[in-house]
Amino acid sequence: MWFSSLRRAGWNCAYALPLRVRKPLALALAGYTPLSKRHWYATRLLEDFARRQPENFQRLIWSHHLGRAAEYERAHGLLSGQLSASRMLLARDLMAVLESRKLSPKRVLDAGCADGHFLRHLELSLSLQNATWLGVDIDARALRAGERRLAAAGSQIRLRRGDLCHMSDWIGEQAFDLVLCAGVLRFFNAEHAAGIVARLLRHTLQLLALSGPAHRQCDNASLKGSEIGADCSYIHNLDAMVEYAGGQVLWRRWQPAGRTDGQSLYFVFAAPGFGN
Ligand SMILES: C[S@@+](CC[C@H](N)C(=O)[O-])C[C@H]1O[C@@H](n2cnc3c(N)ncnc32)[C@H](O)[C@@H]1O
Repeated sequence: MWFSSLRRAGWNCAYALPLRVRKPLALALAGYTPLSKRHWYATRLLEDFARRQPENFQRLIWSHHLGRAAEYERAHGLLSGQLSASRMLLARDLMAVLESRKLSPKRVLDAGCADGHFLRHLELSLSLQNATWLGVDIDARALRAGERRLAAAGSQIRLRRGDLCHMSDWIGEQAFDLVLCAGVLRFFNAEHAAGIVARLLRHTLQLLALSGPAHRQCDNASLKGSEIGADCSYIHNLDAMVEYAGGQVLWRRWQPAGRTDGQSLYFVFAAPGFGN
């Protein structure tokens, strides 16, 4: 009892510190102290920041491999040796769309690839001849770990650091037959997410595959605007973003209740429009 009161008082004192002090403190705690394995300390220290500025908070944690970023790598990365049920389903849907459209991509981009685990799954299961695989992410630590593990496994996948908010820094004139962006757009507000969808579509030759959290009460396609979920990430209408950018939705899945590892599922597969 007295311990929990003491702890609450401790957190209240911590929240009294200005954000410009708490941000470096959170990074230091997570990076250089015995607490570094317990990233929730760092993110809890920034709870109010997460609620007030979800996009900036998400950028901070993913670019510093904090909190959810570290947990994600442990639970779903290459080392875990298993793809989450939701990504298994995404891969299955993707294969079905490729087959039904008779598409055989040669150049594949995964935008927001983490350590490249989903690309690796596709590299092994799609068996595309002479394909090139590129993964881009903002999380340098996940990329370094991924590069080591992919090289040891003899993979052809290349990983590089890149920010989806500054695509011109790394994408140049490149075009890809297949572009994946799974579980990433939720970390951007509606305007930025729509901009990224438009930009990715411009560099897509055959198929763009997007995924994000499903709205629990209504189909995302009927949302008039984006909403912020309990985990301080965004729930978007990706169908509308694709159409606004001139793309065409070919296939979609909206599955709000957690049949698959407790996650809601919302996938949108799109082709670039004529204007692209
Ligand atoms: C939930 S993980 C999803 C990883 C992978 N796409 C998958 O489906 O398993 C989100 C990824 O988006 C990346 N990310 C977040 N913001 C980003 C940005 N601005 N630019 C590039 N990647 C970003 C994170 O670093 C993280 O690896």
